[in-house]
Amino acid sequence: MNSHSSSDQNTTALEAALAARSSRLPGFYRLSVAQRRAIVASWAGLSAAEANHFDCGLPLERADAMIENVVGCFSLPVGIATNFTVDGRDLLVPMAVEEPSVVAAASHGALMVRAGGGFVTAVDEPVMIGQIQVMGLSAEQMAPACARLRALEADILAVAHAQSASLPRLGGGARALEIRPFPETPAGPMLVVHLLYDTRDAMGANAVNTACEAIAPVIEAATGGQVLMRILSNLADRRLARASCRVPVAQLSKGGLEGAEVARRIVAANALAVVDPYRAATHNKGILNGIDPVVIATGNDWRSVEAGAHAYAARSGQYRSLTDWSVDETSGDLLGSLELPLALGTVGGSSRSHALAATCLKVLGANRSQELAATVASVGLAQNLSALRALVSEGIQSGHMALHARQLALAAGASAEAAHRIAEQMVREGSVRSARAAELVAIGG
Ligand code: MEV
Repeated sequence: MNSHSSSDQNTTALEAALAARSSRLPGFYRLSVAQRRAIVASWAGLSAAEANHFDCGLPLERADAMIENVVGCFSLPVGIATNFTVDGRDLLVPMAVEEPSVVAAASHGALMVRAGGGFVTAVDEPVMIGQIQVMGLSAEQMAPACARLRALEADILAVAHAQSASLPRLGGGARALEIRPFPETPAGPMLVVHLLYDTRDAMGANAVNTACEAIAPVIEAATGGQVLMRILSNLADRRLARASCRVPVAQLSKGGLEGAEVARRIVAANALAVVDPYRAATHNKGILNGIDPVVIATGNDWRSVEAGAHAYAARSGQYRSLTDWSVDETSGDLLGSLELPLALGTVGGSSRSHALAATCLKVLGANRSQELAATVASVGLAQNLSALRALVSEGIQSGHMALHARQLALAAGASAEAAHRIAEQMVREGSVRSARAAELVAIGG
């Protein structure tokens, strides 16, 4: 097939996919940046100004207002993961990341899951936890202090609720108190009051911290103790997101291995991450390879997501895998699931003040924080699936080499289409070097 007819076919397939609003965009990776951008803009209905944010999402004067002592901006590539179907809806997923293979692996994981009907998710109400630490109570004073707090719970919640004008109007606000005595700590007895607070579509750190500071004097008066810290917890385990998937076994065959064998190996690979923290750390890092880039692209706080994910992974007292993989006895399909806290916002923070983050949210079509969490959990599960499938078959290096080869071909001056061919040839020859890329470009690929 000559290159002209293959590119014509590609264009037709892409046009058909766009018309059907399918996220399965064949050959998307072979297009130029400008062509990809035009497709994403048309998919998401971006205005020219919104699409331009892909060039400069953060003007210097905006950056200067965001943090202190600004001298510039740090850029990351933003790529689009394709093939995602989440709860029956096709999505294009923007990912800001420096690591090669991440976007390709997410897209490929999503393609395998797509064949089984896509991701299914369940996301909790967006309830955050704020902590108020009360000191100065003896072990004997603890029980009466807890009883007084219980008796005053409604009053305390009313004070917390009144701190935000907007959240109660939107259906959010203070929900409940939890009282957690710690009779023995290295600093003596202390009491911790949890304020459960629904932050709706905001990540909610500001709202929760404000409410915690406002109720601190009421808590002091009720307990007779002294409040030390008033701050949200990043272990947002009232705000869990769950994604699950079914992968038809035929999708999994790789490197001469039958799909059923790959499925069994993936289950065994996951089992190691359940019992061994050394493997669990790498396994979960692979999940976060998918999660962090979407969190960053949408202007969310990835340190908070990381802290929550790792703390949740250690909730049993041992650090473990965040995923579960099993084989369906009846169909032989591979079944996967992921559960983790995801405190994400679609309003507030930099999700709207950073122009590119706002554009990325528009590409995702995520207006609600729960929708965003559903997508982010799905991307984490897709990423884990791709990593495990590669690790239990031919290893991850061959995929990395293919991408590296493509980068070398592009750097040697190949067009996007020729780069793909040249990369394949270099990998076949086992000679992925810039000199070989230059030779192949010189002879026309
Ligand atoms: C590399 O960035 C991520 C992996 O190590 C994840 C894993 O081992 O599961 C490939």
